[in-house]
Amino acid sequence: MIAERIARVKESGTMKMKELAGQKKAEGKKIISFTVGEPDFDTPKHIVEAAKKALDEGKTRYLNAAGLPELREAIANASKAENAIPCDSSNVIVTPSKHAMFETIMATVNEGEEVIMPDPAWVSYEPATALAGGRAVPVKTTAENEWRVLPDAVAELITPKTKMILLNSPSNPCGSIATKEDIEGIADLAKDHNLVVLSDEVYEKIVFDGNKHHSIAAEPDMLERTVTISGFSKTYAMTGWRTGWLIAPKPIFKAISKVQQHSITHVTTFAQYGALAAMVESQEPVNMMVKEFEERRNLVMELLGEIPQLHCDVPKGAFYAFPKFDGTMNSEQMALHLMEKAEVAMTGGSAFGASGEGHLRISYATSKENIKTGLERVKAALG
Ligand SMILES: Cc1ncc(COP(=O)(O)O)c(C=O)c1O
Repeated sequence: MIAERIARVKESGTMKMKELAGQKKAEGKKIISFTVGEPDFDTPKHIVEAAKKALDEGKTRYLNAAGLPELREAIANASKAENAIPCDSSNVIVTPSKHAMFETIMATVNEGEEVIMPDPAWVSYEPATALAGGRAVPVKTTAENEWRVLPDAVAELITPKTKMILLNSPSNPCGSIATKEDIEGIADLAKDHNLVVLSDEVYEKIVFDGNKHHSIAAEPDMLERTVTISGFSKTYAMTGWRTGWLIAPKPIFKAISKVQQHSITHVTTFAQYGALAAMVESQEPVNMMVKEFEERRNLVMELLGEIPQLHCDVPKGAFYAFPKFDGTMNSEQMALHLMEKAEVAMTGGSAFGASGEGHLRISYATSKENIKTGLERVKAALG
């Protein structure tokens, strides 16, 4: 009964650990979970109020597939002002960030074409590529190179079948940030080889220590071959709103629009009014949340420093740490071991690709108290 293409797709490794943690909790265990990539803050009140108001005003009907015009305009303005992407609202499609990735790959990658993507990387890139009939080509990244995607490493993987380079900065699962030089080098490769770039920038605002986020679509002549993805989930604690966006050049915009029209139509109308408030009203809640993430990052680093069996460079953005562990277990075994011994849930690094083996992903989008208790338990279990 099942289509053959589904056999190409693995179950999500992050979901597996999350579900196991849920099961243990149901059995009465006091599991501390570092698995989910979801801010633990409530959505700021003014955003919720804007969506409620939209509902009260009867904003419950269909919109254009590309989204609410005022929201598209606000997204284009912010992308121009903050990331120097030379776009306007006609380049913007409002869509959940994950769907943005999915529909971009569906609209651009042919059967047998190759997509160069970071390894380790967020768990959904490879399955989306496989569903489109494409082939994921992992570019190995290492702790020694701050988990950055280096242009030289990408250049070695380009073949006549390469269609796309997929980037994610700040990155899930490593918290790495691409430098301006990395971005320039990759932009040159994309232009030289006539490739599409998919740049997933959903963590663009969660950047620490004065580091800068760079959008590749801002590089000369890059908008015409780049789809930039970002969204509200991580920046505004709006994961359940399923609202984000993509910015695409006209021909790709048209192709993606077809996928959007024939799949989700558009993002929920009143959610888009909430998203509009997020975009145009006070950014103070964002500053507060980013500051809190930075403090938690510092706390995680301090506590990891007290665990001799774990080794971690300082993540520069997002809300993940990606320590290496000592010993002979593989990362899935280590994650299960810590679940049993410490009642702490983390994701084994291999869930994000072969280069993640020997590491654990810690999502610190949880309270400082949980971080303290959880990492103390890990220290005791490993000791
Ligand atoms: C790198 C990356 N891109 C995209 C997404 C999807 O975001 P959303 O939930 O807004 O669709 C996630 C979510 O975890 C992510 O980590």
